[in-house]
Amino acid sequence: MSASTLDVPTTTRRSFGNAVGLTCRACGARQELGPFYACIECFGPLEVRYDFPTITREQIEAGPKSIWRYQPLLPVPADIAAIPNTDPGFTRLVKADNLARELGIKTLWVKDDSGNPTHSFKDRVVAVALSAARELGKTVLACPSTGNLANAVAAAAARAGIRSVVFIPENLERPKVITTAVYGGTLVAVRGNYDDVNKLASEIAGEEEDWAFVNVNVRPYYAEGSKTLAYETAEQLGWRLPEQVVIPVASGSQLTKVDKGFTELGELGLVEPTPYRIFGAQATGCSPVAQAFRDGHDVVRPVKPDTIAKSLAIGNPADGPYVLDTCRRTGGAVEDVSDDEVRDGIQLLARTEGIFAETAGGVTIATLKKLLETGQLDPDAETVVFNTGDGLKTLDAVADRVGPAATIDPSYPDFVAADLA
Ligand SMILES: Cc1ncc(COP(=O)(O)O)c(C=O)c1O
Repeated sequence: MSASTLDVPTTTRRSFGNAVGLTCRACGARQELGPFYACIECFGPLEVRYDFPTITREQIEAGPKSIWRYQPLLPVPADIAAIPNTDPGFTRLVKADNLARELGIKTLWVKDDSGNPTHSFKDRVVAVALSAARELGKTVLACPSTGNLANAVAAAAARAGIRSVVFIPENLERPKVITTAVYGGTLVAVRGNYDDVNKLASEIAGEEEDWAFVNVNVRPYYAEGSKTLAYETAEQLGWRLPEQVVIPVASGSQLTKVDKGFTELGELGLVEPTPYRIFGAQATGCSPVAQAFRDGHDVVRPVKPDTIAKSLAIGNPADGPYVLDTCRRTGGAVEDVSDDEVRDGIQLLARTEGIFAETAGGVTIATLKKLLETGQLDPDAETVVFNTGDGLKTLDAVADRVGPAATIDPSYPDFVAADLA
C-alpha cells in the first residue's frame, strides 16, 4: 500500500493548527497532512508546511509558560494546552559570564534544556509527536531511542494514559534505563547499536498501523518540536536572533529545525531577520557529519559508534545532509571532540556556571572551545550553546574524576590535620 492511500480512521480529529500540508525536503513535492513521513514521488523526508495568520509578540507572551505559547507555529490543535501532555519548554537561558571569561568570548548564553520534565530537550519533540499521534488516531506511542527519547516517550504516554513501547540498545546508561522503566510502559532492550534498533523500529512501524513511532512514522510532526528551542531563545534574548549557535548533532533533526525556527520568526516579523551562523557538535567516536563537513562531501558516510556520548551515537544520521547544508549555508561548521574533551567540557561547564550537563552537553561545550581555539567561531559575536540533557543521567562519564577532597573523622583536630581551612 502506498503512503498516500493509507486510510485514516474516521474517529480521528485531525486538527493540526495552522499546518496545511507536508512538503518533501528533497524534491519539494507537496502532500496532504496525515500519517506520512516519506515522499510519494522520491521517498525523501517530509516536513510540515503552514499558512500562518498574523501573530504578535504580545499574543505569544500572553500564552502558557511552556512550548504551547507557540501553538500557532506548531502542528497542534488550538486547545493543545488543555490536553494532558508533559508541557515542556520555557527552560532558562543562562548568561554564562564565567565560562565566557575563561574561553575568551564576549557574550555567551547557555540554553539549559536539562530543566525539562524528563531532563532533556526530547520532551519538546515528544509533546508535539504525542499530539500528532492523537490527531491521527494512533493508540500506542513508541520509539527507538539513544536514551533521552526513551525517557520522554515513556513519561508523555504515562501522562496521556496510553501505552508506550520503547526500544533501546542494550548497552545504554543505567540511569536512562531506570528513568524510562519507572513510568510503567514496555521497555525493550535490543542486542545491537542504535542504528540496529532504528531499523527494527522502521520494520515494526510498517506492520503495526496503530503505533506512532515518534521519530519514524510521525517524524515530520515530532521534528517541529525542536523549533521551540529557537523561538524561546529569540524571545528570551528580547526578540532578537543570536549571531552564533552551537548545537549537538545525533540524527541532526534539532539543528535543522532551529534554523527553520529562526527563519520563521524573521518571516513573521517577530524578530529582525539578522544573519546567524549554526555550528554542529559531535563526538569523535561518532562523527559522520563532522567528517563529511571536513572532507567537503555532501553525503554522510555511516560509521559504527564508539563514544561515551551515547545519546549522540547515531552512526547513520537521517538529517546528516541537511545539517551539512545548514551549517555551510549559514557560514557555520561541524566539529568533533574526543571523549576526554567531552569529560573536560562537562567539568568546565559545571565548574564555571553550576550547570551539570550530560555527555551531549559536554560534547557541545568542548566543541565550543575547539571552534574558538581554531578561529572558526567569532569571539566577539553573541553566542548561544544548547545544553540538551542532564548530567545526572550520565554520572559515570565523570565519576572517576571527581570526589571528596578528604575523608575525615567528625572532629575539629581531624579537620585541621586534613589542611582544608
Ligand atoms: C541530549 C541530546 N542532545 C542532542 C541530541 C541530538 O538530537 P538530534 O537527533 O535531533 O540531532 C540527542 C539525541 O538523542 C540527545 O539525546
